[in-house]
Amino acid sequence: MKTPQFFQLHHEDSDQIRTELLKGLQSSQAYTSPKYLYDALGSKLFEAICELPEYYPTRTEAAIFLEHAASIASHIPQGAALIDLGAGNCQKAASLFEHVKPFRYVAVDISVDFLRGTLDTLQRQYPDLDMAGVGMDFSESLNLPAAAMGDIPEVRALAPRVFFYPGSSIGNFTPDEALAFLQRIHAACSAHGSDAKQGGLLIGVDLVKGTAELEAAYDDALGVTAAFNRNMLLHINRLIDSDFHLDDWSHVALYDEQLARIEMHLQAKRDVVLRWVGGGRVFAKNERIHTENSYKWTAQGFSDLLQNAGFAKPVVWTDAKEKFAVMWAAA
Ligand code: AVI
Repeated sequence: MKTPQFFQLHHEDSDQIRTELLKGLQSSQAYTSPKYLYDALGSKLFEAICELPEYYPTRTEAAIFLEHAASIASHIPQGAALIDLGAGNCQKAASLFEHVKPFRYVAVDISVDFLRGTLDTLQRQYPDLDMAGVGMDFSESLNLPAAAMGDIPEVRALAPRVFFYPGSSIGNFTPDEALAFLQRIHAACSAHGSDAKQGGLLIGVDLVKGTAELEAAYDDALGVTAAFNRNMLLHINRLIDSDFHLDDWSHVALYDEQLARIEMHLQAKRDVVLRWVGGGRVFAKNERIHTENSYKWTAQGFSDLLQNAGFAKPVVWTDAKEKFAVMWAAA
């Protein structure tokens, strides 16, 4: 049996985190990066969100992969290096192995510690598949370590690179950021001499739909999404020694039709004096902290975006109600 290799490139810089958070919190329209939603509890709450009846994206995407597995696989080059961005529990990528038959699986997430147990288990299921786990902030750079792409340079150079970015995580970028990110993926398809023409991107994208359905998906009856959003305050308290109290803040999720995005906010229930070591600010009652955007795309709009980023016109699979799309874009 092979053994997975692990690489940790990302190292947390607490000064940088503090500077970034204080900039957002002190701004007249306070905001925070959605990455602070994901501490250990936040990641578990997100897994719970994916099980909610109102949160259709996860199960709709899974159904598309299941129904169209053979067709999707027929477009993806066999023997590719499959690079899973934001791999988490690796289950979505693993469901493709039988069909896509990669020569190597490279799971990328912010911390390699999230990947160790999962890859060890997965390796037992697929003993002959080369596997690597890479801890890096792929939203900043896609410079994968050469060793993570395989030990033998000639094999590395020949294998097409297939990037996998499911779950509509692309929706958490603004359209400009999404374009820049897709351009970086396009460039990375040909990195280290691999055959760019054969590589590409398999991506899941949430589609524009009615306001009521979208707002319910981001403000569920059980209150799990509210807990996910409010938990960010506890995470921030630990990061900057602030004194957010959960009782002071409520969850707000609104769909902006013009911008085609769900906005998540935390809204002050009363006047709040927030303190952190070395400073603080006042939030008036009803003032908000903008915590996340989740952009929705039309299939045409996202297809254009992929082509603007340098990819070929994508092949698109959707569900019967056209809630969600999976796209294969060859580099
Ligand atoms: C991770 N991301 C694609 C989710 C989304 O739908 O934008 C995060 C999320 N936020 C609230 N619910 C789920």
